[in-house]
Amino acid sequence: MRILFIGDVVGSLGREMITTYLPLLKQKHQPNVTIINGENAASGRGITEKIYKKFMTDGAQMITMGNHTWDNRDIFEFIDDAKCLIRPANFPEGTPGKGLAYVRYNNVEVAVINLQGRTFLADLDDPFRKADELIAEARERTDMIFVDFHAETTSEKEAMGFYLDGRVSAIVGTHTHVQTADERILPRGTAYITDVGMTGPYDACLGMNKEAVISRFLTQMPTRFEVPKEGRTTLSGTLVDIDPKTGLAKRIERIVINEDHPFRPE
Ligand SMILES: [Fe+2]
Ligand SMILES: [Fe+2]
Repeated sequence: MRILFIGDVVGSLGREMITTYLPLLKQKHQPNVTIINGENAASGRGITEKIYKKFMTDGAQMITMGNHTWDNRDIFEFIDDAKCLIRPANFPEGTPGKGLAYVRYNNVEVAVINLQGRTFLADLDDPFRKADELIAEARERTDMIFVDFHAETTSEKEAMGFYLDGRVSAIVGTHTHVQTADERILPRGTAYITDVGMTGPYDACLGMNKEAVISRFLTQMPTRFEVPKEGRTTLSGTLVDIDPKTGLAKRIERIVINEDHPFRPE
């Protein structure tokens, strides 16, 4: 079982990268399941139903979210019907949507779990204990469990990685928008990377207009962050191979596509 995961898609440039490169990546790597983090897909803030559906027609089977889940009001209109969209599972009780869903490939199911960290982010329910709960639930159906842990700090992400090691197939980090080069198989067989990185504007601060970000650092005044609509682009992803017999990972590989790391079809 091969899973392709693409990190935080930011704005229209990010979405164009998906439309252009997802078919090429699929041709090259032949993943069985493709997952996209779409928390920044609508102008950097949240996702709309139209974008969700476009990701599906572009070739994704599951969309994960993060701290920007509620930033576009459109989400409230469709989240309850969106079978292939999950938001962090440790959002408070009573929050719309869900944090665990299943993707079927032939006769096998992969459970996909979305969790959010609490360090330098909102004070949500405990993601560690929520992970225990959801892993127990998912295990009733499948040994293949893929986790998107949306968190700010490397320490919380590494801790979650080791905490879940041997109990899930893979745990990949999202949210920082900068890919880390620490992809590995943890001692008990779980694939891990601290952050997958982002997909969208390349010459921008985490996908936002760099001038506005620099100005905020220089002046400490509020500035409006916008996502550039033109310019160079980047795509960040991760490929994980899972042994269906054990549910553990055999291989993890980083993917980057931009002018410094051009796509090679072979
Ligand atoms: Fe993000
Ligand atoms: Fe985020």
